[in-house]
Amino acid sequence: MNTFHYINKKLFCDQIPLEKLASEFGTPLYIYSTKRLRENVNRLQTAFDALNPQICYAVKANDNLALLQLFHKLGLGFDVVSGGELHRAIQAGANPEQIAFAGVGKTDAELKLALHSDISKISVESAEELDVLNRIAGELNCRPSVLLRLNPNIAPKTHHHIVTGNAESKFGIAIDLARELRAQNWDNLNLRGVHIHIGSQIPDPTPVLAAMDVVLDFLEECPPNWDIFDLGGGFPVAYRPELVPSSFANFAQIAANRLARFPRPLKLILEPGRSLIADSSALLLTVQISKQTGTHRTIVVDGGMNTLLRPALYDAYHHVLPFHEKNKKTYPTHIAGPICESADYLARDRHLPDMSRNDRIALLTTGAYGYSMASHYNAHPRPAEVLVDGDSYHLIRRRETYTDLDSRDIIP
Ligand code: LLP
Repeated sequence: MNTFHYINKKLFCDQIPLEKLASEFGTPLYIYSTKRLRENVNRLQTAFDALNPQICYAVKANDNLALLQLFHKLGLGFDVVSGGELHRAIQAGANPEQIAFAGVGKTDAELKLALHSDISKISVESAEELDVLNRIAGELNCRPSVLLRLNPNIAPKTHHHIVTGNAESKFGIAIDLARELRAQNWDNLNLRGVHIHIGSQIPDPTPVLAAMDVVLDFLEECPPNWDIFDLGGGFPVAYRPELVPSSFANFAQIAANRLARFPRPLKLILEPGRSLIADSSALLLTVQISKQTGTHRTIVVDGGMNTLLRPALYDAYHHVLPFHEKNKKTYPTHIAGPICESADYLARDRHLPDMSRNDRIALLTTGAYGYSMASHYNAHPRPAEVLVDGDSYHLIRRRETYTDLDSRDIIP
């Protein structure tokens, strides 16, 4: 059964009616299905089983501590890209051995925190960062394991904002420069392998294979103690119900075939974010206004680009379901948020039944880069989050209040 489904014309998440959650906790509200989170982890582990990877969940997709702790209990490590994400992974119970630290602009303070925390691997993204880390590691008298994040100059077919593997991108080190860096002495660094992440929501594995070819050729020339290959994240999610993107198994098959041709065993790391969490979640919203705007009806709901930025930033599609299934006539509808920006639309051109004030809708597949990219724009407090577990549920982040909004301001 789908995570979000109708029973007697009412929309449910697993065994819980969404109306119950919206009435109890208010809207906008992010909800997550424990069942679906577990299933996603299980599907990924099963697909890649033969390669025995270390799976490091990409904390940037959603850093709620309860969700991080669930992933930790399911045996995952964490991919972090800031001191804050590192702090939260540790707060959730992660063992430093299971944390990999990437990020294109780490500060001295963040690098020191990583070294003090004894995390297992640091991905370095430039010649300058290698220099800085070598110096700081010397000062702290330690010798961290380092991966070179390589830029293979391969761009997958995905939204241009989430491509990271082309030459002009700020991410990673070009292969020729990596060859020069590899030949130098880094007294305080233990260079152990390579890392790639060529983009997010990659529809099919072909460019991943091309990128693997480039970086594994590089790795083959390295000394045998370079034995780690971090393939990054990027596995796709079905945002549109009618589309079936490549599965974990397709990616695993390609990776297994390519790694089988590598002359020595490698430790594989994966950094999935979206594919583990996006489809476990819905964003629940309440209609405030319904008005005719030209040829369309526009409904204005109580969360917009402040709550879910993806549609405004990437023209991202999120499927919309009304809380109550109605067989009646539908109308071409735009769904707008309350923010004073013309880009503040969550969906356009959808066919929805009659909608009036206090009716509710759910936007699906919102678990990744939803809450984590939410803001206070127009001084809206950020929403609450609830974790559904079969026939029970738990508040896992309370709704912010106006007092929260004021809590860090200082009037001199
Ligand atoms: N590893 C690295 C180094 C990354 O930069 C990312 C995502 C991931 C792993 C996880 O990628 P995933 O498996 O989630 O595709 N805000 C955008 C996505 C930005 C992705 C940034 N990096 C969105 O809402 O689509």
